[in-house]
Amino acid sequence: MKCLTGQILDYADDPRRAGDSAIRHIEDGVIVIGDDGRIAWSGERSDLPANYATLETIDYGRKLILPGLIDAHLHFPQYRMLAAFGKDLLDWLNRYTFIEEQRYCDGEIAAAAARAFLDELLRNGITSCLAFSTIHPVALDCLFDEASRRNMAVASGKTLMDRNAPQGLLDTPQAAYDDSTALIAKWHGKGRLKYAISPRFAVTSTEAQLEATGTLVKENPGLLIQTHLSENPAEVEFVASQFPWSKDYTDVYDRYGLLTPSSLFAHGIHLSERELARLSEAQSAVVHCPTSNNFLGSGLFRLHHTTESDHPVNVGVGCDVAGGMSYSMFDTLRDAFTVSQLVGSRISAHEAFFRATLGNARLLGTDKEVGTLEAGKYADLVVLDPCATPLMAERHALSRDLHDVLFALMILGDDRAVAETWVAGDPVKPRS
Ligand code: GUN
Ligand code: ZN
Repeated sequence: MKCLTGQILDYADDPRRAGDSAIRHIEDGVIVIGDDGRIAWSGERSDLPANYATLETIDYGRKLILPGLIDAHLHFPQYRMLAAFGKDLLDWLNRYTFIEEQRYCDGEIAAAAARAFLDELLRNGITSCLAFSTIHPVALDCLFDEASRRNMAVASGKTLMDRNAPQGLLDTPQAAYDDSTALIAKWHGKGRLKYAISPRFAVTSTEAQLEATGTLVKENPGLLIQTHLSENPAEVEFVASQFPWSKDYTDVYDRYGLLTPSSLFAHGIHLSERELARLSEAQSAVVHCPTSNNFLGSGLFRLHHTTESDHPVNVGVGCDVAGGMSYSMFDTLRDAFTVSQLVGSRISAHEAFFRATLGNARLLGTDKEVGTLEAGKYADLVVLDPCATPLMAERHALSRDLHDVLFALMILGDDRAVAETWVAGDPVKPRS
């Protein structure tokens, strides 16, 4: 067993809705980590039970210890293709992304990519994610093998696509069903891994494949489902032309039974009120990926309109690498802030860090295991240094309260502000 000391911060709920009582901030805090990699105790140093008082201690001083950050949407096979100069989503997919992803039929390439991808997440304090892979079962095997070796809580699945992409990225409805079924049996629930049924988006699946996807959902109730929805106006138009019977984009997924309480739809920028109401009724979630939306010029997501209308929809956050411009959760939250400014409502730093921790854990169905610093949860942690650079230290001197400190971190921070990342009780930040 060991002890970490420092400032500790976690959220019991969304502070925007529940108020400041949802924020637990302890300036002189202690986290006790058990030999099982879980948190044995956390709280005020003055309340530390006597039997923990002599444990080996790592002192983080004034640094902040938070639950490990969670990314609810990104693409493993796009790990190195950031900064591709595309016009918009469909152009970027066709010119760069579909070419890069075809390499993942090769197990050696995929294994090396999995190491680099997970290293990059850990370097940024991200201990858990829901990620897309490719259609190739071997690519998913490599990602899950590497995550398993690191004891990381990773959710992913084989991508399903059978049209409108190069031949090397297409499967069939039957292969989609057979491969997914075999991979679910092989991986779901192994250690901390979760399987996610993963149709890429309506553009790249035939009706027959969406039908097969619906069958997978029925046969595996409760499994995560991830896809993309209403990201870009040209995409929305294309989907309408491919599914002329549909009321709208959301209705396409609805028809095949893909709207469930464990469904996460990336983007959801251009949804109608009808679509929001239907997502709300189904208790499905939308994942806001602001650096991607800005990079691809996809549009401005209306965060609080989505979460607070008459038909509220849960919203997670993700970097969407490599449509996204950065792995850093600080960058994701910074762009969530600037986009919220542009649509006339501000996301606070507390709401932002809640969404990147317990909020995303709830959407991934892992909130009993991670997302806060409560005893019993895995010791997946991130240690943040608000004074990581000379400029940040000077800015920190101006901060008047905790919100100021967190806000400066999310606006100015990068991986240098991640002093350490802990996964299941071990320090694992790769040193570059
Ligand atoms: N829609 C379908 N595939 C993708 C993808 O790889 N990235 C993004 N941003 N949107 C998508
Ligand atoms: Zn995506």
